[in-house]
Amino acid sequence: MLREEGHDVRVVPTDSALRFVGAPTWEALSGHPVSTQVWDDVPYVQHVQLGRWADIVIVAPATANTLARAASGIADDLLTTSLLTATCPVVMAPAMHTEMWLHPATQANVATLRSRGVTVLDPAVGRLTGADSGPGRLPEPADLARVVDEILAGGATQDLAGRRVVVSAGGTREPLDPVRFLGNRSSGRQGWALARRARARGADVVLVAAHVDLPELPGVRTVHVGTAAQLHEAMLHEAPAAEAVVMAAAVADFRPASYSDDKIKKADDGSEPPAVALVRNVDVLADLVSRRRPGQVVVGFAAETSSSADELLALGRAKLARKGCDLLVVNDVSEGRVFGATTNDAVILGADGTIVADAHGSKESLADAIWDAVAKRLP
Ligand code: CTP
Repeated sequence: MLREEGHDVRVVPTDSALRFVGAPTWEALSGHPVSTQVWDDVPYVQHVQLGRWADIVIVAPATANTLARAASGIADDLLTTSLLTATCPVVMAPAMHTEMWLHPATQANVATLRSRGVTVLDPAVGRLTGADSGPGRLPEPADLARVVDEILAGGATQDLAGRRVVVSAGGTREPLDPVRFLGNRSSGRQGWALARRARARGADVVLVAAHVDLPELPGVRTVHVGTAAQLHEAMLHEAPAAEAVVMAAAVADFRPASYSDDKIKKADDGSEPPAVALVRNVDVLADLVSRRRPGQVVVGFAAETSSSADELLALGRAKLARKGCDLLVVNDVSEGRVFGATTNDAVILGADGTIVADAHGSKESLADAIWDAVAKRLP
């Protein structure tokens, strides 16, 4: 991808990397010879020259071992010697099994590297090399390429500089009794990606978060809420000052009609369990649309299950007509896709139902596609 963008790329594989992809492949892709050892091409003094030559070094995937070697300054192959001689920005994209990523030794190495100015990306969450899944996955190649481009450009485009945006994220929980609730499977990752990308593009960001178990984002004001009613109240409070509002939260459409102060017990006599009566919650998105101030851009999400792309579009367009928002992001959530995953397949519809963008890939790329569409509509 970097070559296709016109960058000149030198590949420095470790010995272990060559067990996965052989040197000839790297040489053909990069158009340069590759070596792993400082003892190759000695007259050129590669271990010093490569570090001086590069505008940026990206270590992807960065194993637990490479992070540890880099953090302690070990220089026992061409990669680690190049890292010690490089004075340019360094990006590391860790990839490993979750246990290794979470181990205090790895976390301490990451903290050390970050304190020295190295950009250590958080690994993506998802399927790993074995049957397991969790944090530790290498981010999508397009995300890595974007990080490289942004650092080389001196930062992300600042097209949202000074703009105030509010993003809702996560899933509301509607309590039934002190220990139970009606909830949904939203992880909040899409809302987090939206907030992170808006911040990177210069916006002043408020994140209204319902039950999201993700680290707070630096530079973003996060308001925590629990129920749909609390989310509604927070959005009514934050939206009037915002130029763009994105409703990425999964808001419960219904809540239990009554809340029991005592835990609901099962009867000992074998009688039927009690039915849970539900009542409607406010449609926050529709309410925000009805109160939209001139020039404000309101974005909704539609989570749909469908058997075909045409059906998905039809469902999305019907929802768009009902909600009246400026942009609707239509996600296919059939068979457990999207929720909790790191990638998305989505279509962004404009107010008239036309397809504004077709986004495949990471939640960060979808977030950027959404902000591109929002930026075009801001006065
Ligand atoms: N939404 C909202 N308030 C609700 C329910 C949903 O603001 N009480 C918002 C969501 O944040 C999302 C959009 O409406 O941006 C679409 O939500 P979705 O549940 O997919 O659509 P519904 O209108 O609830 O339609 P249905 O459940 O019938 O598909």
